[in-house]
Amino acid sequence: MKRLVSMAFATASALLLQGCAGWQSALDPKGPAASELAWLIWFFTGLCAVVWVLVMIALAAPLTMRSRAQAEPLAIDVGADGRKLRVVLIAVALTAVILVGLTLLSFFANRTLAAIGSDAALTIRVTGHQWWWEVRYEDATPGRILTTANEIHIPAGEPVRLLLTSTDVIHSFWIPSLSGKLDLIPGHMNVLDIKADKPGVYRGQCAEFCGAQHANMGTFIIAETREKFDAWWNDQLQPAAAPTGGEAKVGQDLFLRRPCVMCHRIGGTPAGGTVAPDLTHIASRQTLAAGTLTMSRGNLAAWIADPQGVKPGSHMPVVDLSGDELNAIVAYLEGLK
Ligand code: CUA
Repeated sequence: MKRLVSMAFATASALLLQGCAGWQSALDPKGPAASELAWLIWFFTGLCAVVWVLVMIALAAPLTMRSRAQAEPLAIDVGADGRKLRVVLIAVALTAVILVGLTLLSFFANRTLAAIGSDAALTIRVTGHQWWWEVRYEDATPGRILTTANEIHIPAGEPVRLLLTSTDVIHSFWIPSLSGKLDLIPGHMNVLDIKADKPGVYRGQCAEFCGAQHANMGTFIIAETREKFDAWWNDQLQPAAAPTGGEAKVGQDLFLRRPCVMCHRIGGTPAGGTVAPDLTHIASRQTLAAGTLTMSRGNLAAWIADPQGVKPGSHMPVVDLSGDELNAIVAYLEGLK
């Protein structure tokens, strides 16, 4: 029986801890801010666990002890009263010391977080929309300003400043492996500095309930070497690839004549809508609809044919297309690498 219980405990702990690793975990930090926060989480949890055990022992001990029979039960024992008062005073003092200590730790952790991006060379404006992320790379040269969506490329090992805002409701930006969460508030700009120690892909999730598709408001931070990042930025600044092949050409023509063009922008074409994600290089992204679907021909077709089935409540309308027209538009979008 004892073995069974310990085996069950070991299995349960292994399963639980499994959830603590991976590309979206505050307990598996991959940057200085997340490391600072993970350390705080473990320290707070450990200290509070010790306090809880001590309180439980203090509660249980008197219940298990038998008091000695007294000849005169009503007589006042001044010595015992004094001892009890001392115990209470020590407990109150310890509580105050622990609370002040934890407050100071939080304060210094905040200072560490604030210092991470003080010399950030890269600024990215992230705007929350129901239910996707607009990502704009700022640059002193207007021609180098880049707008994309849902995936945020950053150079690894360098601090990056994120300017967070929203156009509709309050969202919350959270990449657990890299940083704590911060709200995106309409009409207000919040600043979050992040840094990834090493190249990698880290998943993020909107962390403030923002409507029907809050759960499908994912984002990805793709940290890469400086060279790869610069190459990526230069590629993204290029206008969209011209369609190759008859079907893709038909697709582009359809895209430009149908309602798609009213919401989406495709660089190098007359499509200039800005209320929905920029599609200039959509096929270079790993997912569709803010992490809802992986990027593939089938998923592109599914998303365009039935956006309300894939992401009910999303602002992507159903565009009336025949099967051939749908295939043509997909063939065009697939080429926008
Ligand atoms: Cu955006 Cu929840």
